[in-house]
Amino acid sequence: MPRAKLKTKKLAQRIDLNYFKRPHPFRRLRFLLSVCVPALAIIWLAWYGLTRNNHVYSSGKMSVSHSVLTEQCSSCHVKEARAFSAKASDQACETCHDGPIHHTNQLFTPNCSSCHREHRGSLRLAATSDLSCTQCHANLRVAGSATDFARNIDGFDSSHPEFSAVRAGSVDPGTIKLDHRVHLKKNLMGPNGAAVQLDCGDCHRPPASNEPWRFGGVPQPKASSVAQKQEPPSINPARAYMSPVSYAQHCIACHGLQFDKRFAESAPHDTPTAVHAFVVLRFRQYIATHPAELRITNSDPNLPQKPFPISPRVLTPEQWVSERAAESEQLLWRKTCMQCHALSFPTNQPLPVVANSNITVHWFQHAMFNHDKHRLVKCEECHSAARTSQETSDILLPGIRTCEQCHHTGSDGAEARCFECHTYHDWSKEKPAHGNFTLFQLNRRQPHEANAQTSVGK
Ligand code: HEC
Ligand code: HEC
Ligand code: HEC
Ligand code: HEC
Ligand code: HEC
Ligand code: HEC
Ligand code: HEC
Ligand code: HEC
Ligand code: HEC
Ligand code: HEC
Repeated sequence: MPRAKLKTKKLAQRIDLNYFKRPHPFRRLRFLLSVCVPALAIIWLAWYGLTRNNHVYSSGKMSVSHSVLTEQCSSCHVKEARAFSAKASDQACETCHDGPIHHTNQLFTPNCSSCHREHRGSLRLAATSDLSCTQCHANLRVAGSATDFARNIDGFDSSHPEFSAVRAGSVDPGTIKLDHRVHLKKNLMGPNGAAVQLDCGDCHRPPASNEPWRFGGVPQPKASSVAQKQEPPSINPARAYMSPVSYAQHCIACHGLQFDKRFAESAPHDTPTAVHAFVVLRFRQYIATHPAELRITNSDPNLPQKPFPISPRVLTPEQWVSERAAESEQLLWRKTCMQCHALSFPTNQPLPVVANSNITVHWFQHAMFNHDKHRLVKCEECHSAARTSQETSDILLPGIRTCEQCHHTGSDGAEARCFECHTYHDWSKEKPAHGNFTLFQLNRRQPHEANAQTSVGK
């Protein structure tokens, strides 16, 4: 019979309808699996439950700083109704370290964990996303009176405002006169008349610098002969900002404070009261050893020639000292000190008043900066105005466009998220926290300690 004529019914009869009733190795295996796997899972969970190990719930690797807490889930996940809670409460975080408030006039306070996303791998928790800031700063509203700060910032290289210190109309509040252009010119007259070329680093270096100053005074002997070990660049705060300029380190070699031809030495660089006391003392010591000078004739080589001869005067030592001091001070106050300072002469005081120098060290009150991290760049790239500036009042700082050349979104730029330049927490309000762990509790090779909560904080 040809195959094609085979009836459908016949075909159906060939199929064994009771195949499932007979045992088969595959089916047996399937049955075993469907019973054993859940059983194993229950045993596994029970085991972790009994040993109080919460690893099973873990949703990812801990951040670098918290990796030591991998065995201490409950230090953040405080148990609710004796069960594991997937929420990490702010209070749990604060038992180990405070997260002080940002501004008291903010409308709400986000949870710690909304900005510090845990279980995202071994990253830095403080590297928060821009959203954690722009949730407020994209449309900033404050409690009470309106804010003076920019209200719509949603990214550094998009809508961030120009820095306040470089906005039109800002001036350097410093009072020390300095013409940068003159001092940076070629062949400036240096000490002893030699021609020199000054460099920014002859006047500006961070406090951590330990090279001697080219135009400073006699180096001060170190208090201790043991060389101070410095912190590495990455964490040394003394490399971030430039030290304020000082007369003793940056000006003294070229700008002496001579007060009288009789003395090679300079007056001290100090308050007018101290300068006056010094000058008087030096003249007293001098006249004690040179009494002949009390007799003053018009041929006195130290005085300008008078147009007609006058009879010689004989002074008391005190008269002589006060006349000489008055002459010297006329020169100092009206010329020498005035070259660099604004002096005022209150009528009710015998000595002038030197204006506060007001040299700013930290220009950006609301942001951080670190020169050391930018040491690959030439000073003038950021301080392009320095070479041509003639007035102290000029602002020589870079604006936001300079920063954006490197700090911009995209993988080819330096970090441009808000935390790179700003703090969120007002750390001046930080409350102390004292940890209370034993090494035993933190040691992952040890069995689990029953109740971590009681061991955290106070
Ligand atoms: C340093 C604190 C900290 C420790 C320690 C910690 N966690 Fe978390 N965990 C968090 C934070 C923060 C969240 C985010 C929860 C939220 O939004 O409140 C979280 C979330 C979770 C979630 C929810 C899923 C998710 O990703 O949002 C699980 C599950 C979890 N953690 C398990 C664990 C386990 C298991 C351990 C112990 C191995 C552990 N955690 C240790 C801080 C911690
Ligand atoms: C059991 C103690 C403990 C608890 C609880 C804890 N931390 Fe920490 N945290 C540490 C230690 C230790 C460090 C590392 C030392 C340091 O930076 O102070 C750290 C560092 C940090 C840092 C800075 C390091 C980084 O990666 O940027 C942040 C941010 C932080 N924790 C946030 C939190 C948050 C948010 C919580 C709550 C979800 C929390 N911590 C809970 C102990 C704890
Ligand atoms: C709006 C986002 C935000 C919130 C909410 C927040 N933080 Fe932070 N936190 C930051 C940023 C940004 C930094 C890094 C800059 C700084 O130190 O302010 C930081 C830094 C830290 C640091 C590290 C300080 C260091 O040594 O470098 C700790 C610890 C910390 N936060 C804890 C907390 C705790 C605890 C809470 C909850 C009470 C909290 N934070 C809430 C954004 C936030
Ligand atoms: C809950 C809302 C809120 C969040 C979130 C927030 N801010 Fe603010 N921010 C404010 C308020 C309010 C002010 C103060 C405005 C005033 O006093 O006029 C402010 C002021 C500032 C200022 C200027 C004053 C200062 O502190 O130096 C900076 C910079 C700043 N925030 C940065 C940040 C950064 C960076 C983040 C994210 C890590 C952030 N803010 C997250 C509300 C917020
Ligand atoms: C002879 C010493 C001297 C040299 C050399 C010098 N400076 Fe200055 N600089 C000063 C003094 C003094 C001040 C403070 C008075 C003022 O603000 O002008 C100052 C202030 C500054 C300031 C902050 C004040 C502002 O208004 O921005 C910057 C930035 C600066 N200098 C950059 C430079 C750079 C860059 C160079 C090299 C191209 C340089 N300086 C070379 C003496 C010097
Ligand atoms: C290397 C030597 C040298 C150093 C260091 C130096 N100066 Fe001068 N300074 C000069 C010379 C030379 C002149 C006269 C320049 C001219 O008029 O061409 C001068 C002129 C001045 C003037 C008058 C400028 C004018 O407009 O006439 C002031 C003010 C001044 N210096 C301040 C300072 C201060 C402040 C410092 C230290 C921060 C300093 N100088 C460091 C060499 C120096
Ligand atoms: C070549 C420039 C120069 C000359 C000349 C000069 N000073 Fe100064 N003076 C400075 C600088 C730079 C500072 C700021 C840093 C420091 O204290 O050295 C300063 C600071 C001062 C201060 C401290 C001001 C404050 O901020 O409170 C006094 C006081 C002072 N000088 C007095 C004098 C007197 C008095 C004279 C004249 C005898 C004089 N100076 C001459 C450059 C000069
Ligand atoms: C990447 C840009 C950049 C470079 C490169 C740079 N600066 Fe600055 N500088 C700044 C900024 C931004 C500030 C303002 C920081 C602040 O005070 O908040 C500043 C401030 C200063 C000040 C004022 C004091 C202070 O620290 O705030 C001096 C002086 C100064 N810079 C000198 C220099 C010298 C000298 C060099 C070269 C060795 C240099 N800078 C290189 C950006 C730069
Ligand atoms: C030549 C490119 C370049 C320019 C221009 C530049 N930066 Fe940076 N900046 C960097 C790099 C790269 C880092 C990271 C350095 C690191 O983390 O070691 C950095 C780091 C920083 C940091 C973090 C410092 C720290 O302590 O971790 C701040 C804040 C900063 N820059 C601010 C600025 C500001 C403000 C400007 C503009 C005045 C600016 N930068 C201009 C390249 C640049
Ligand atoms: C590369 C560094 C850098 C980054 C990234 C950055 N800022 Fe700024 N920001 C600054 C500097 C510098 C200032 C000027 C501070 C001053 O004038 O005292 C400033 C000023 C501010 C101010 C005060 C504005 C005002 O009106 O004076 C706020 C608010 C602010 N930033 C928020 C943010 C926020 C939100 C982000 C993230 C979206 C951010 N910043 C990213 C450097 C930065």
